[in-house]
Amino acid sequence: MANVVKLAKGNAGAAQGNSGAGVQKGGGDNTMTVTLPLLKGTVGPNVADVRALYKNHGVFTYDPGFMSTAACQSGITYIDGDKGELLYRGYPIEQLAEKSTYLEVCYLLLFGELPNRSQLEEFENIVMDHTMVHEQVATFYHGFRPDAHPMSILCGVTGALASFYHDSLDIHNPRHREVTAYRLIAKMPTLVAMAYKYSVGQPFMYPDNNLSYAGNFLRMMFAVPTKDYEVNPVVEQAMDRIFTLHADHEQNASTSTVRLAGSSGANPFACVAAGVATLWGPLHGGANEAVLKMLQEIGHERNVPAFVEKAKDKLSDVKLMGFGHRVYKNFDPRAKIMRDACHSVLKDLGVNDPALGVALKLEEAALNDPYFIERKLYPNVDFYSGIILRAIGIPTPMFTCLFALARTVGWIGHWMEMIGEPDQKIGRPRQLYTGPTRRDVVPLGKR
Ligand code: ACO
Repeated sequence: MANVVKLAKGNAGAAQGNSGAGVQKGGGDNTMTVTLPLLKGTVGPNVADVRALYKNHGVFTYDPGFMSTAACQSGITYIDGDKGELLYRGYPIEQLAEKSTYLEVCYLLLFGELPNRSQLEEFENIVMDHTMVHEQVATFYHGFRPDAHPMSILCGVTGALASFYHDSLDIHNPRHREVTAYRLIAKMPTLVAMAYKYSVGQPFMYPDNNLSYAGNFLRMMFAVPTKDYEVNPVVEQAMDRIFTLHADHEQNASTSTVRLAGSSGANPFACVAAGVATLWGPLHGGANEAVLKMLQEIGHERNVPAFVEKAKDKLSDVKLMGFGHRVYKNFDPRAKIMRDACHSVLKDLGVNDPALGVALKLEEAALNDPYFIERKLYPNVDFYSGIILRAIGIPTPMFTCLFALARTVGWIGHWMEMIGEPDQKIGRPRQLYTGPTRRDVVPLGKR
């Protein structure tokens, strides 16, 4: 099958607003017609194959922000942004959140199928066997200021793990890749909890492998060596569900970063550290922290209309954090589940959080406002996750760390998928150059 695509040869629109130096604007024949092969996925829009475009026609494509560009093939996660659908290996997120645990979902994302009972047991045992970190890892923590943001600590210690596992860093060995996946999934909760313990000056808690993945994490966060700690099953289930909802989200900024870093052959711990760094941004994983700050700034339901007006004002620099998504132009399906979980957790724990009242008022105001309706801006998963995390007792600066913990399986799953491809290549985007053309250096005394 083939398709005819018209491409702009100069740059009549794309670089407007830049200095424009060196950019041809308009004039002459500014279009070209090429025939491109179309690739078909199992579902979703067809993809024009531009791989031979430069070789055959001498032009690049221009797509900052990857608005229309598929950077890879993947069989892991599918999103239909118009329908508000999210599938992990074909399974709807709603069903997985209700019927499966996070570790079942990890197995699914890594190996392609849901495990049977014995496969799951084996997988859980392997993961839980890897939860400890080398004692020397603690010394890294002591090098950070106690008031360091936990995400800065997490970036550092995740990358540092590579220095402990020389035995399994051959990225071309499938067994090494698998062991690394177990290690990362298992150790991330330990590293995240240690970042929290360090920030509050409490001793690190060793993992307890008799607990569930989420239960063990909660204990490492909130237990102290001097007292018994019992995991609250409501909180444990909510935590597990939050992990499931954040486990993967196809080619988002952090996952694409992990893939790009990995494409050079970098070790997987370094690649995941790059993912953590990318996730930290307020437009990505940092949004749940930003939502809570915003709700606190708004303070009361009566202040919501004025805040919404500010968010619509292009001169104000204010955005409704937790609203909008590059792909979802209908409701974010994760947000729906999170919204329900939010209500039941707050009810079960008897928490009466004014932030939830402000959030619901804000949601109602925005969903009925033409500005948000026309732009298809709906609450995303981060809009509600911050409120649940706060009710559970997770401090706001830790929110993004929990997201990183949950997304680690997605990052490592995509990394494994990419490295396993037979024709895997280093990622190397091209550019539309707008700088000066060639010129000669004038000697310093003559400038
Ligand atoms: N509040 C107010 N206006 C918004 C918002 C918002 N949250 N989001 C988008 N808009 C407006 C833009 O100003 C733009 O308006 P215009 O057409 O008049 O210029 C229009 O909606 C389109 O927005 P873009 O920024 O072009 O959309 P893009 O796909 O590039 O960005 C993003 C998506 C980054 C998520 C954006 O909606 C945003 O910044 N949201 C708030 C941060 C957030 O919640 N991030 C979490 C994302 S989900 C995740 O990482 C788990």
